[in-house]
Amino acid sequence: MTIAHFVPSSSIHTVADLVRAAPAAVRILQQHGIDFCCGGKRPLADACAQSGVTLDALLQQVVAAGDVPTIDWQSLTPAQLCATIEARFHTSLPRELTRLLAMAERVLLVHGQKDPDRLESLRDTVASLQAELIPHLALEEAEVFAAIRAGATDQALVGIQQLEHEHDAVGALLKKSRELTDDFNPPLGACGTWRALYQGLAELEAETHEHIHVENNILFQAVAQAAS
Ligand SMILES: [Fe+2]
Ligand SMILES: [Fe+2]
Repeated sequence: MTIAHFVPSSSIHTVADLVRAAPAAVRILQQHGIDFCCGGKRPLADACAQSGVTLDALLQQVVAAGDVPTIDWQSLTPAQLCATIEARFHTSLPRELTRLLAMAERVLLVHGQKDPDRLESLRDTVASLQAELIPHLALEEAEVFAAIRAGATDQALVGIQQLEHEHDAVGALLKKSRELTDDFNPPLGACGTWRALYQGLAELEAETHEHIHVENNILFQAVAQAAS
């Protein structure tokens, strides 16, 4: 993975360039003991090598910190799209699903008597999202993205059909979570966990819609075009 995958329209060569493009990088650089003030003009790759972290690992951490420079998805090659989708969406998703499911369980346990059918259904919907998405990410990375990176377009196309069906299933589950939560509006008097759950589900919906859009409409179309 290279910087170009993250900021294709800019050129980042130095430590200071990275901080300008992604302010969240400051905290990551500090964690690795990389000076971004007086040492800001150093080439980023040299600074990483000196501090014992690979450039790829550092950039993954910057993306995971949530401050992602605007990504010009259309300008990326299929292999670059795979790397950027993994860094931007896949890395954080399993942990977030675990967090959301724990909150849904807790709200059901503590407040279930207030609206039992709805809260049980919401818990089941979040569990279904996790059960659908975790194997989906594995299939995507291990088979389809691997085939795309290897230039095995026909093999990739077979897996893409299944992935698109799974995207539809995920979209239906997100729609259900929106319906069950009144468009992610917690009821009056909802506790902090209840409100955090709805907020997290709203963010999951927005992130996953973008994630699926980039795959269906940009990556998979590029692969289909390459095959035709
Ligand atoms: Fe994905
Ligand atoms: Fe996907």
